[in-house]
Amino acid sequence: MRYISIKYLQPCFTAFLVITMSGFTASAQQTIPLETADNVLVLQIDQTKRLNTLYLGAKLANTTDYALIGDARSSTADFTGMFRSAYTPAGSRNVLEPAISVTHADGNNSLDLQYVSHESKKLAADISLLSIRLKDPAYNFEVTLFYKSYYEENVIEQWCTITSGEKGTVTLQKFASANLNLQAKHYWLRQYHGDWAKEMRPDETELTHGIKTLDSKLGTRANLLMPSVFMISLDQPATEDAGQVLFGALEWSGNFRTDLEIDPQENLRVISGINNYASAYQLKPGETFETPAFVYTFSAKGKGPASRNLHNWARNYKLLDGKGTRLTLLNNWESTYFDFNESRLSGLLKDTHNLGVDLFLLDDGWFGNAYPRNSDHAGLGDWQENRRKLPNGIAEIAKTAQADGVKFGIWVEPEMVNPQSDLYHRHPDWVIKQPQRDEYYFRNQLVLDLSNAQVQDFVFHTVDSLFIKDPGLAYIKWDCNSVIYNAYSVKLGNLQSQFYVDYVRGLYNVLKRLRSKYPVVPMMLCSGGGGRVDYGALQYFTEYWPSDNTDPLERIFIQWEYSYFYPAIASANHVTDWGKQSLKYRVDAAMMGKLGFDIVVSKLSPVDLKFCQDAVAAYNGIKAVVWQGDQFRLANPDQGSVASMLYVKPDQTCAVMFNYLVNFRYGEGSHSPILLKGLDAAKRYRVKEINLYPGVKPVIDEQKSYSGDFLGKIGINPVVTNERSSVVLLINESNQ
Ligand code: DGJ
Repeated sequence: MRYISIKYLQPCFTAFLVITMSGFTASAQQTIPLETADNVLVLQIDQTKRLNTLYLGAKLANTTDYALIGDARSSTADFTGMFRSAYTPAGSRNVLEPAISVTHADGNNSLDLQYVSHESKKLAADISLLSIRLKDPAYNFEVTLFYKSYYEENVIEQWCTITSGEKGTVTLQKFASANLNLQAKHYWLRQYHGDWAKEMRPDETELTHGIKTLDSKLGTRANLLMPSVFMISLDQPATEDAGQVLFGALEWSGNFRTDLEIDPQENLRVISGINNYASAYQLKPGETFETPAFVYTFSAKGKGPASRNLHNWARNYKLLDGKGTRLTLLNNWESTYFDFNESRLSGLLKDTHNLGVDLFLLDDGWFGNAYPRNSDHAGLGDWQENRRKLPNGIAEIAKTAQADGVKFGIWVEPEMVNPQSDLYHRHPDWVIKQPQRDEYYFRNQLVLDLSNAQVQDFVFHTVDSLFIKDPGLAYIKWDCNSVIYNAYSVKLGNLQSQFYVDYVRGLYNVLKRLRSKYPVVPMMLCSGGGGRVDYGALQYFTEYWPSDNTDPLERIFIQWEYSYFYPAIASANHVTDWGKQSLKYRVDAAMMGKLGFDIVVSKLSPVDLKFCQDAVAAYNGIKAVVWQGDQFRLANPDQGSVASMLYVKPDQTCAVMFNYLVNFRYGEGSHSPILLKGLDAAKRYRVKEINLYPGVKPVIDEQKSYSGDFLGKIGINPVVTNERSSVVLLINESNQ
């Protein structure tokens, strides 16, 4: 059967012309394959017009074979007929976790979604957009599923729009972005949890029957305890180079929820979207709700290709200025905290220049007068320069920076307010708090109500005014330290259950507005460390702050896990005084991303300063490879005493290999060669140790040359030992 849609004049109505073609049997079902370079998602419309997922995995050689998948894979009976629904509606035949659940205008809780039509548009050589309209036969209510596919990157972004044509208000109880379906004998989930300074701690377990839910209910700083990124290996845990694995993440900077349920036929349903916790959303007649996108990639060759898929996609299409450049910097947070003034900052600007980095980043503490920001107890919300610390304003600092030949950037946390602030007293109705309950603080602060358009204006103007004061302002660090307690918006009145969703939409409105005025100014996404790292926000930000934990040994692990999902160019890594490792180890670890410093430069010994200056120069020589190269995880710090990470220039003429000791027990080190990946087997390479501490001799012989084949099969030993706990190797093509 084929269904051809005919549109009537009323926009929400679509009727079907069901054509029975000769030669079609009653069981013939239409398939919709969505292919990328290596993978395919096959959807199928069944005889009852329900849309199901037939297959998600490696592409088949013959497109015609997709229609055979259903018969080949059928197992026990599906008595509901919708275990594999491509977007499971609640309240009709479904008995599993739904993707969507609604209460119709008449109070009825049932939903059925039937296929109406679909279309596929080519948006660019690499990008297609498939949209599939579904409609409830009993109610004027429809859902359109969107699949934006990036062919070369093997990435799909999936979201939907939900439209009500009912006469009264419909309540959305659950409104997921995507409902995937995977088939394997076993499913292994790698998920993450954390806390301040403990970001991206992995757990990898086999899923059992029942529902496993990953979620956040924190509102802002939503990833503090758990980020939305995860991976699922099919049959057995995927390794870096082998096994089938799906990586997924919700592009949303607020509450999320991902349900993973093994169904009675042993398929895995993955339903991901905004968390519906306390978030029933009302749709008035004619209104449409658009969900954020869930992004995913699949690899049949392990985690390495899956992560490179996401890196390529992010750099090409999602991360702001993903193919651009970044600024190295000196930040003053850990060197001064709140204690600075104009003259101290002048010294730091000179240090910035002396170090050789591009920019000085002035952190927290520069604002507030009636309630000066001298600690984290006061001042948030009052974004005027503190007259004692900066009597001549930021314009003066910016001028001095210019005279010193460095750029200037500044920290803001514009979504927040301290009760000790003018703003709090002037606009109590802008503050998120329960009218009848005591205030409860996270870092002595409260969150402003971004669901309120006036607050959005305030946040926009807070940032805009900085650019007005200093038109050359070159960098913003946007912090967000508090979660939301006592969620309540004065503005929303009796629509409180829309608060969490409207907050994030409000935030995105502000960011969109800022980006239309300041399209490329680099901005760091920071949230008391890595409390807000997601692709919803990263389309407005050039980089993120992975963690306040800058102990380089910790960062090896933290950056490792982030690196599965986010490209190195987006990872802001600062050299600080955290940890017990050498300065070289700290600098090397920070080089695996976007390098910055947050140390007291003036207190460095001459030799340490020389090392840092040389390191900045060395970094300038390799940063393009780190930022735009293909990233290969060579030795996993969780599985041995050495961690090794490689970045290979796309034309395979150059690579940089970072190696670290992560177990400092006696005699630990790299006792055997590490196999390199991603090099051209036919090319020859020379290996040179870089970033050596002054006076230290290299151990690796620069005169030898190796073929890419040799480096891939036999490898090279970076000679990591307790005495050489951090080794960086530059691998350059050589013609001999
Ligand atoms: C939390 C951030 O993660 C730090 O880097 C620093 O900017 C402080 N906030 C400032 O309050």
